[in-house]
Amino acid sequence: MKPLKRVLVTGGCGQIAYNLLFRIASGEMLGYDQPIALHILDVESMKDILQGVVYELEDCIYPLLKEIKYGSNPYEVFKDVDIALLVGAKPRGPGMERKDLLLENAKIFEQMGKALNKEANKNVKVLVVGNPCNTNALICMKNAPDICKKNFFAMTRLDQNRAKYQIAKKVNADVKNVKNLAVWGNHSTTMVPDFTNALINEDNLLTVIKDGEWLKTSFMQLIQKRGAEIIQKRQKSSAASAANAIIDTIKSLYNKEGEWFSLAVHSGKNTYGIDEDLIFSFPCISDGSGNFEIINDVKLNDFIYDKIKLSENELLEEKNSICHLL
Ligand code: NAD
Ligand code: LMR
Repeated sequence: MKPLKRVLVTGGCGQIAYNLLFRIASGEMLGYDQPIALHILDVESMKDILQGVVYELEDCIYPLLKEIKYGSNPYEVFKDVDIALLVGAKPRGPGMERKDLLLENAKIFEQMGKALNKEANKNVKVLVVGNPCNTNALICMKNAPDICKKNFFAMTRLDQNRAKYQIAKKVNADVKNVKNLAVWGNHSTTMVPDFTNALINEDNLLTVIKDGEWLKTSFMQLIQKRGAEIIQKRQKSSAASAANAIIDTIKSLYNKEGEWFSLAVHSGKNTYGIDEDLIFSFPCISDGSGNFEIINDVKLNDFIYDKIKLSENELLEEKNSICHLL
């Protein structure tokens, strides 16, 4: 048996967590030979609900679930965690943009960063899901100066999954055969699903889908607005698909899949001329042990690059609006 991995989920009483915790505990995320300790945080007012979730986890008698630690004090719950899935935050409602949540949620991620810095394993990998996730991840990273910047991520995998599905549906292909479909930038309506470098059954997408107008307008907008559309229909934000994308992200980081995946990471010095201090979604590849590299030689045409720059501008504006927390 491998050594225990400690996985933290915040927002443990929320709808994403309810779709996520049981899948992690079953072994689906880290493998069926990986013993797990779950650390679960929610606010004090959710104490009874959290207790109920923990009872249910116990009653599943998952063989890999060796320990459950839970509560409302991040300094107790975050002790020694190896993977932190920061879900706990307010979701948006109908008619809102994700950045409307910024002022309300930003404080949470300042606190999460400070507590991770003090209590977590120094090599902890931190995936921020709570919106607006890119800027929240930046706040978290800045408040955790002892943890490597490369260990902070924000989730854009749901956007990639959405984009892959729509392309596969358009040409009646298997979703597995749509590859290199990376989403760039912010997890917002400015996100850029780059269809120009995608492959369908190893052929460049543009040689298979000739309808450029559909790609540039209907397809892109569908992906950019999918989250809002789900909120409009369900009156709640996506949850099962979000949990699924969290699992996909961690699997991509901890397995050598050899395939690009979208992940918002610290931009650092990058070959695309993106500001060096943002959490920005790029196509990435992993070494299978939780570490990644940005794919640094993707050719971007003017249409895609201009859109990527718009998303960068939006992130710079978001950063500017919370600079007091950095
Ligand atoms: P939810 O309202 O169902 O649950 C959120 C939970 O977080 C609640 O139980 C709440 O009590 C808890 N919480 C609030 N503040 C907390 C704190 N300081 N510490 C710990 N827990 C805290 O919301 P949800 O549907 O699970 O969504 C959670 C977040 O994820 C939202 O911000 C949503 O917009 C975001 N989201 C992101 C993506 C993505 O692709 N990045 C996808 C879906 C949802
Ligand atoms: C999503 O993309 O479904 C989430 O970010 C929730 C939202 O607010 O759209």
